[in-house]
Amino acid sequence: MTLQHETGPSTAPDVGEEEDALLAELAGRLGGTLADELTEGGSPARLAKLDLPDGDPQVIKLLVDIPGAVDGHDLESFRVKIQQIEKIRDEIPALRGVYTELSHAFHGENWAAYTMPFYPNQDIAAPLRAGEDIEKRYAPQLRTILSDLIGEGHLRDSAETGPGHISEVHGDRLIRRFWLLQKYLPSSLVDAPEIVVNGVTCRNPLQQAQRLLDDPRLTSGIDPKRLYYPIHGDLNTRNILVTDEAALAGADTGGYRIIDPRGTLGLWDPAYDLSKILFSFTVWDAGLRKGFRLERQDRDWQVAIDGGNYPAYRSAADGLLGLLRGLPEFRRLTENDRGWESRYLIGHAFHLLGEAACRLSDIKKRTGEDSEDQLDPVDLATGHYLYGVLFLEDAIRQLEAEGRVDHDAALSHLG
Ligand SMILES: Nc1ncnc2c1ncn2[C@@H]1O[C@H](COP(=O)(O)OP(=O)(O)OP(=O)(O)O)[C@@H](O)[C@H]1O
Ligand SMILES: [Mg+2]
Repeated sequence: MTLQHETGPSTAPDVGEEEDALLAELAGRLGGTLADELTEGGSPARLAKLDLPDGDPQVIKLLVDIPGAVDGHDLESFRVKIQQIEKIRDEIPALRGVYTELSHAFHGENWAAYTMPFYPNQDIAAPLRAGEDIEKRYAPQLRTILSDLIGEGHLRDSAETGPGHISEVHGDRLIRRFWLLQKYLPSSLVDAPEIVVNGVTCRNPLQQAQRLLDDPRLTSGIDPKRLYYPIHGDLNTRNILVTDEAALAGADTGGYRIIDPRGTLGLWDPAYDLSKILFSFTVWDAGLRKGFRLERQDRDWQVAIDGGNYPAYRSAADGLLGLLRGLPEFRRLTENDRGWESRYLIGHAFHLLGEAACRLSDIKKRTGEDSEDQLDPVDLATGHYLYGVLFLEDAIRQLEAEGRVDHDAALSHLG
């Protein structure tokens, strides 16, 4: 269903025309012609394929700043994204063949753009949407890719860090983004002290995040003791492109491209990256493709992926931690890190809440596009929010009771 919004999206100037003009101008500067737009990303950036008269096609990615974009979707992080690609390509020759290339970068006052080759691909999760067994292609491919990324990437550099990381990274980010949720979602969801989701009474996530900041003792036992090389930061399944299955299955390197890092240059917690894969399978990717079924009776909310999640996504979610633990590089990364599993699940809950705000961050920009067939961003935000509230409540309850978050107990909330 489409919810009746208590505060509807406001109309605002359409930046689409400015983007169109810039894309055309940049294509002209590069001597190419704009072809199809790539719409898999779901961020405020515009991506288009660029055909070049002599040479392989490129992709141009453009971000025009909109005031109020959430961090990670704003112009500043977009510029850092370009620097992160440069840094990784410079510093890690072993990953140059599998990390996105960067052909050109352009910077305007309120926009930036970059180009890279067009990689014919399917995302790592594509076989699973068709119902393929996870062991046939997805799991062996992911093992190879993560062995490379962790072994050559995360483990390349690290340093000790003090307590407070979870509340600083996740709690603080949710607090900074919460105004957007309060602007577009019903007050009964964002302002009420308690929200009932799929039969579970959950505490308000803003208050939970504030509590983590005020009293970091709850998470100090599971905070990372070390941070690692920032190899990505937004490792969702749509940013892992399989380009050559035979090469990926063979003994040689290559066969895939990692695109679209978050835009972060400092040392980083790998649990953040790996829980982005989990969140792709539990809710995000199917939610964006199919939408959510949302029902409300007074205080009680029910949320599900419309038509149900892809069954193989559920198997991939359930199996991801085991897959990781089978990798020698992962065991090296986490050998003295007792909080890892808990952090992975807390990160998962906060990614869902963070994504809810992202769905709303470019709402103004997209207003006015022909939206007949498009899923309503407020419904997409609501679906992610409800799942986020549920998983955060579960994680915090487990932390309060046991001092840790158990994977199987957490994922049992997927029904
Ligand atoms: N170089 C490329 N070759 C082929 N397909 C690409 C390429 N770059 C991007 N794509 C496709 O476009 C989608 C969106 O691109 P990308 O991940 O860079 O943007 P985004 O997720 O919308 O942006 P961001 O996370 O920066 O806000 C990708 O998931 C992929 O399907
Ligand atoms: Mg992306």
